[in-house]
Amino acid sequence: MIQAQAPSNIAYIKYMGKIKTDGNIPTNSSLSLTLNKFITEVHLINQDNIVDSWKPLIKDSFYPIELSDLGKNKFLKFFNYLKEVMKINGNYLIQSANNFPSDCGIASSASSFAALTLAAYKLKQHQDSNFYLSLEQLAKFSQKGSGSSCRSFFDGFCEWTKDGVGQFQITTKNLKHKVLILGSEKKQVSSSQAHVQVLTSPQFNQRPERAEQRFISLKKALETSDWASLSQICFDEFIDMHELFETSTPSFSYRNQKCNQLILKLKENFYGKNYGPLVTMDAGPNIHLIYRSEDEHLVSKFLEKNFNDGLILSGL
Ligand code: PMV
Repeated sequence: MIQAQAPSNIAYIKYMGKIKTDGNIPTNSSLSLTLNKFITEVHLINQDNIVDSWKPLIKDSFYPIELSDLGKNKFLKFFNYLKEVMKINGNYLIQSANNFPSDCGIASSASSFAALTLAAYKLKQHQDSNFYLSLEQLAKFSQKGSGSSCRSFFDGFCEWTKDGVGQFQITTKNLKHKVLILGSEKKQVSSSQAHVQVLTSPQFNQRPERAEQRFISLKKALETSDWASLSQICFDEFIDMHELFETSTPSFSYRNQKCNQLILKLKENFYGKNYGPLVTMDAGPNIHLIYRSEDEHLVSKFLEKNFNDGLILSGL
């Protein structure tokens, strides 16, 4: 049996919209922080069968993943692709689980596809000890399964541009992360659909320029430890992505009332400030806070006052 794990990531600059669906070619550069504590584990078990199959992994302190038929087919199709490109023999039972609840709206496609890519690589190395791929090559393969998964191969910050994907070397030693779970309803629109639907938004016309501009400013702010600018850029960026969702045809939204109330409060307290959390959202009703350890008390105080009865998970 082969097993592998990979972490999730949260984007400061979002990948939303594709130039090409085939191969997941993004319309703009993105930059993310790897969330080492949010993990998917994948097992590959050789089976005497003519096809591969998938089922949830049952393991202590992990949550079995629930996949729709569509999700299962996408995962199996991608495994087939990996088997072809790495020339892997045999058929396998794939099992996977997350160490975070799967019904809480945290996207697990990044960690799932990265873990499957790593597991396939380990399997290939088991069959051929001379086989070697770099992290960049593995990330490139993984991108075909899920774009955002290519950023999960690197510790700390990761940048994904038209030139490729790799680590952005800035220390993350002092950083903490929390995600506030604000809804557990099943996603009505998957991120794959979102990538397609945002193209219909009138605000998408200038989106690549806005994202590239923010990408440059954000990297500069990271390099100069300019927290006030980081705060502004991260906030503007996630609002930009969510406005694309809300102005597309048909429109959709991941922001429920609780999200909107909390976003307003976070903006009042911390937008463009040199202290407190950076605020961002992924494609789900959850709010991510990234902050420096010396601001722990500020964040705790804010949450005690404004979010005292919800689920909070830490990804760093
Ligand atoms: O899950 P994917 O690879 O189709 O892309 C999702 C992208 C977002 O999570 C919405 C944003 C991002 O950059 O992570």
